[in-house]
Amino acid sequence: MNKIRAAITAVGGYVPDYILTNKELETMVETTDEWITTRTGIKERRILKGNNQGVSVMGIAAVKDMLAKSGTDPKEIDLLIFATITPDMTFPASSNVVATAIGAVNAFSYDMGAACSGFLYALATGASFIQSGMYKKVVVIGGDKMSSILDYTDRTTCIIFGDGAGCVLLEPTTEDEGVMDYILRSDGSGETYLHMKAGGSRLPASHETVDKRQHFVYQEGSAVFKFAVTNMADVAAQVAERNGLTADSITWLVPHQANKRIIDATASRVGITEDKVMMNIERYGNTTAGTLPLLLWDYEKQLKRGDNLILAAFGGGFTWGAMYVKWAYDGTRVRH
Ligand code: UT7
Repeated sequence: MNKIRAAITAVGGYVPDYILTNKELETMVETTDEWITTRTGIKERRILKGNNQGVSVMGIAAVKDMLAKSGTDPKEIDLLIFATITPDMTFPASSNVVATAIGAVNAFSYDMGAACSGFLYALATGASFIQSGMYKKVVVIGGDKMSSILDYTDRTTCIIFGDGAGCVLLEPTTEDEGVMDYILRSDGSGETYLHMKAGGSRLPASHETVDKRQHFVYQEGSAVFKFAVTNMADVAAQVAERNGLTADSITWLVPHQANKRIIDATASRVGITEDKVMMNIERYGNTTAGTLPLLLWDYEKQLKRGDNLILAAFGGGFTWGAMYVKWAYDGTRVRH
């Protein structure tokens, strides 16, 4: 019998309506549209406004979009994994909130925190449940409400992030397609350069932590840049090489959207041209766990069965990884 693989059979996404432009950021911090555009490639990002609007709002909208497009019955979902570092609350898991809101009454669900690599980690995990033969329908969501943990007085950090969420449905196949291979890595010494100081069990919230602005993303941008640029490119090249993929046979590079200069370096390392690189950084910025599924959502109609995709990410932890996915359906069949 042929090996069971996990195929991506549907994609969903959601970005909030509010657009925070570089021009508006110019009125908030000492920056310019020109600096942000040339240093990062970002022109605007989406922000989830309103009271009581957690990341689950975007996760629910993304999954509903996917269910409607694919005609999937939520009662058939076995498992839902939500990759996020900005859950609605420390507990319960935002995945529990999403599963109940969409009517996935037969599913169990949990969150996964691996920052910008969260979606890749969750996709690998979800695929393993399918490959084992245990489950038939697994939903993997990646999304973050980064605006909830950004210091809008820190010009190097606040300009790169935005809010958004995307998701995929994984189902078993015995065809030679779906999640083919991946390399996932982590290195906890990266904590020095990218973390949030307070609000966890090491330094719980207090007046002092609020006064010291410790509930925001702390990032030493240029140090993170150096790690990202080499590590993400290395694993993307390794996963391509060990599967015999060349610049010609890779149809799309699907890179984490942190900085256009990192994306360009990864593309050049894998040897592929810009027309084969999925990119939406100029419209959404860095949505952390949301970047990869939002790329698949934006490019879904252009994808064809048999396309070879290399997904790659790098983020807090440090965490990083790359995955080879052989696409399992034609974008033209998608109902909108
Ligand atoms: O997604 C998770 C992982 N994160 C990443 O991969 C992010 C990686 N890092 C980056 O993308 C970049 O490091 C940033 C976009 C965050 C920063 O860009 P950079 O080119 O590394 O800038 P820098 O921090 O080295 O700062 C260079 C200069 C400094 O001025 P001086 O000291 O040379 O006078 C900064 O003060 O640019 C200044 N600067 C700004 N100027 C205008 C920093 N931020 C801004 C700004 N507007 N927003």
